[in-house]
Amino acid sequence: MTSHTPLLYIETYGCQMNVNDSEVVASLMCGQGYAMCSAAESADLVLVNTCSIRENAEQRVWGRLAELRALKRKKPQLMLGVIGCMAERLKEQLLEKEQSVDVVVGPDAYRDLPNLVSMAKAGQKGVNVELLREETYAEIEPVRYNSNGVSAFVSIMRGCNNACSYCVVPYTRGAERSRNTQSILREVQALISGGYKEVTLLGQNVDSYRALAEDENGKTETCNFARLLDQVALLSPQLRVRFSTSHPKDMSNEVLHVMAQHRNICKSIHLPAQSGSTRVLELMHRKYTREEYLERIAAIRSILPACSISTDLIAGFCTETEDDHRQTLSLMREVGYDFAFMFMYSERPNTKAARRYKDDVPEEVKMRRLNEIIALQSELSLKAKLPYVGKALEVLAEGFSKKSNEQLFGRTSQNMVVVFPRGSHSVGEYLTVTPTRCTSATLIAD
Ligand code: 5AD
Ligand code: SF4
Repeated sequence: MTSHTPLLYIETYGCQMNVNDSEVVASLMCGQGYAMCSAAESADLVLVNTCSIRENAEQRVWGRLAELRALKRKKPQLMLGVIGCMAERLKEQLLEKEQSVDVVVGPDAYRDLPNLVSMAKAGQKGVNVELLREETYAEIEPVRYNSNGVSAFVSIMRGCNNACSYCVVPYTRGAERSRNTQSILREVQALISGGYKEVTLLGQNVDSYRALAEDENGKTETCNFARLLDQVALLSPQLRVRFSTSHPKDMSNEVLHVMAQHRNICKSIHLPAQSGSTRVLELMHRKYTREEYLERIAAIRSILPACSISTDLIAGFCTETEDDHRQTLSLMREVGYDFAFMFMYSERPNTKAARRYKDDVPEEVKMRRLNEIIALQSELSLKAKLPYVGKALEVLAEGFSKKSNEQLFGRTSQNMVVVFPRGSHSVGEYLTVTPTRCTSATLIAD
């Protein structure tokens, strides 16, 4: 009998958290004898790790599932699984509408995957979408199968306890829980030993990280995010530390001071505003006003003068008026964001907003407002980069540029992308680059 190593292909949609979850899933499945492969066509098991954040994210997955159904017709022994947020939200529909789906597994049930795949092979659908209050996959060492060997995501918590009225995440990922501190430090240490140069600590709301940890004298005490960040930064001065996402209502000065103390904590903060209008923020249940948000920005500017600030913005939330929209534009100018993720509001079934408010901003108005936001951000992004042209910047080389193998790209501490001639440099190296020009997205050294 010839033995065949079963091949697993994972396709990931959505956020950085999902990227890291796929690495956890890879670890669990490789522990059961699977090996990773890089195309659905060559796989024995295809897992689609899905996102529900906006309707178009789900539409993309439905489209992809139709393609995979066709692949399965040609190759009937192929097992197909849907995992992640859509699995959690749409279990029934997935099983009904897409007969080709063999397993459906929610974000907290990945340990059950090997068992569910076995069930599916025996002819039964393998389904588990239970949300578990305790699950953090703390001791599982993610298999970073798509990695550049330089940067890695490290999950520090799961779930979310904020009840933003537009957001589906608390329903798909469950309640917030923090991962054990020692297991995080061990994972980062292993990454350092493996040659990694950068970690991004991930959580839906990193500022509410809270776990019990032992201090150097063996006494148990609470470790908050500031302390965790401090301990991670101390592991190696050669390791860059980033984190995402901060919440304006929770981001503390203590965290900002820890950032100021460590050269290796990158000076870049992602602080989603969502809207510049206090009235809309209240409907969104964000629990801060425009003024309170600006107070946090002022704290960043005073404690970390060279810090870049990025944000998320939603155009056309329920009841948003032209005046509310202008307040978003004016907030953007006032902060002078370096970068932004910008979205049209997409109503998600069963969220507070869907239950309580009417999605009453017409599609074309949403679109126009979004385009105005995008146009303004592109001006601001350019303006934020110009001061760096002609300056010597420390860059960590992260990979080859998309355009040419003769060019590398990397990022500055402020998270700005720099493209530069490869010369004798290699990926994973820190080097000094002086950009000669820039676009709104990239600094370029000729
Ligand atoms: N519609 C549009 N954008 C959304 N986001 C979250 N939920 C929605 C929604 N229903 C955006 C927010 C969040 C980011 C991850 O996605 O800006 O910060
Ligand atoms: Fe990530 Fe949210 Fe999408 Fe889930 S719904 S994958 S948490 S962005």
